[in-house]
Amino acid sequence: ARKCVLSGLWKNELGSNMTISAVNTDGGFTGLYHTAVTATDKHIRVSPLKGSQKPTNQRKQLTFGFTVSWTFSNSMTVFVGQCFMDDKGKETLKTMWLLREEVSSPGDDWKATRVGTNIFTRIK
Ligand code: BTN
Repeated sequence: ARKCVLSGLWKNELGSNMTISAVNTDGGFTGLYHTAVTATDKHIRVSPLKGSQKPTNQRKQLTFGFTVSWTFSNSMTVFVGQCFMDDKGKETLKTMWLLREEVSSPGDDWKATRVGTNIFTRIK
């Protein structure tokens, strides 16, 4: 059976791209995220991501999580998901994310977190 590999270049349905580097022996990885959209009025810049997969030895369907620390805003996004391998060897990453923005007071906490889903497919 063919196994999922997170390393490489991925694109989601919003048009965002991410590059994930080689996964190390502990399951850890880093990468770069180029979002196509922003909740801010800032100019978008490529931002670093850091995450891990489990189990560390590659499986057909593996789970993973990563954090993106946006370089152009005060927000962070965490993604959690699973890689699915179909019969044709095509990989899909099904994820859910939480986007946390900085608000000025606890009274604004209620509106500080967005939630959503993204599906990534491999470009390279
Ligand atoms: C910000 O607006 O403060 C930073 C950019 C956030 C982009 C979000 S993260 C979840 C969703 N998936 C994407 O590819 N982009 C948006």
